[in-house]
Amino acid sequence: MQDLSGKHIVLGLTGGIACYKSAELCRLLTKAGATVQVVMTEAAEQFITPVTMQALSGRPVYGSQWDAREANNMPHINLSREADAIVLAPCSADFIARLVQGRADELLSLLCLARPAERVPLLIAPAMNREMWSHPATQRNLAQVQADGAIALGVGTGDQACGETGDGRMLEPIQLLEDIVAHFQPKLLAGQHVLVTAGPTFEALDPIRGITNHSSGKMGFAIARAAREAGAEVTLIAGPVSQPTPRGVGRIDVLSAQEMLESAVDRAQSATVFVATAAVADWRPASHSEQKIKKDGSGQPPVLHFVENPDILATLAKSQRAQSGALFCVGFAAESENLVAHASAKRERKGIPLLVGNIGPLTFGQDHNSLLLVDANGVRELPRATKLVLARQLVAEIAARLPTRSPP
Ligand code: CTP
Repeated sequence: MQDLSGKHIVLGLTGGIACYKSAELCRLLTKAGATVQVVMTEAAEQFITPVTMQALSGRPVYGSQWDAREANNMPHINLSREADAIVLAPCSADFIARLVQGRADELLSLLCLARPAERVPLLIAPAMNREMWSHPATQRNLAQVQADGAIALGVGTGDQACGETGDGRMLEPIQLLEDIVAHFQPKLLAGQHVLVTAGPTFEALDPIRGITNHSSGKMGFAIARAAREAGAEVTLIAGPVSQPTPRGVGRIDVLSAQEMLESAVDRAQSATVFVATAAVADWRPASHSEQKIKKDGSGQPPVLHFVENPDILATLAKSQRAQSGALFCVGFAAESENLVAHASAKRERKGIPLLVGNIGPLTFGQDHNSLLLVDANGVRELPRATKLVLARQLVAEIAARLPTRSPP
């Protein structure tokens, strides 16, 4: 199963230089398993040809409301009924204005107007010059299309084709793909605030060297992404890793276990779920040398002393919020053998409702893993899959265990 298997996307292109990015978006959507039907306005065809989009989507492109290829001559009805979502990328300032007015004099705005709004979402990726973007007319129109039910995916910031710099670029294709995939995920954690620790910590010996481990952070980043896709507000506290921040996730970078603890304690005050995936160093050097520790010529290595690091998970599990049921804590256990026994014992020791076990050497740096869920009722395996797939399954498991909130 791919992220968009079975989904049919109508990809609408309107006039803008960002059309060149839509070719890549089309490719990413099909690679993710979607079928893509491209519809282009006349203005879009000034920027990229229908031939390119047909070749990438594997389907003839539509551009006219009078297209006689449709037996009933109603492409606006047929195309909009087949879709699981309509994505406008790029969506120009003019086209947003057209949507606001409910114009129907060319195929793309006509099919947006004709879409069954309750089951076919309209996602728009605006793209324009920064002055056009910040103009009150555009912002007013954008607010109105959202009030009318469209989902605006935001804009990027940076260099623009016109030579100016600012807000209004179309999001990158990979970001749009992430948003579209997220749109289809069930909102199991809506209203929750999920806090995740990820990656290794780095315990400095001197300004040059320190103690760390091989954790890549991939599992924690996948959980942060999955929780965000499920509708949660997500804060990710990351040790030194080189993973890209998932869309919509707030990220705090830290180095040491002590810094990670301080950030976690602070953020846990408003969190409702805490997932500790970080491979926190158990020990840190008892003292930190301000200067590089040099060889002294004796041939003897320096004697280093260590003190134990705070246990972040155990600290939060003991907090008043966790004890009162307001904060649901999930731990991870990286073991090298005897997974069931070690993971069960660790869950009891840390005083947490759910612990996720895995074999450390088999997972560090990998894109795949398998997980063992241990709770008060016993043990359950999530078989080998990508870390993102496992993260989505874990999110569902967490959601099912959260106390049901009384209706407002
Ligand atoms: N953990 C933590 N702070 C620490 C150590 C661990 O928050 N100082 C969390 C990890 O993020 C993980 C869980 O505790 O969720 C278990 O981590 P692990 O390294 O497997 O266990 P340890 O408690 O360090 O036990 P041991 O090294 O004896 O296996």
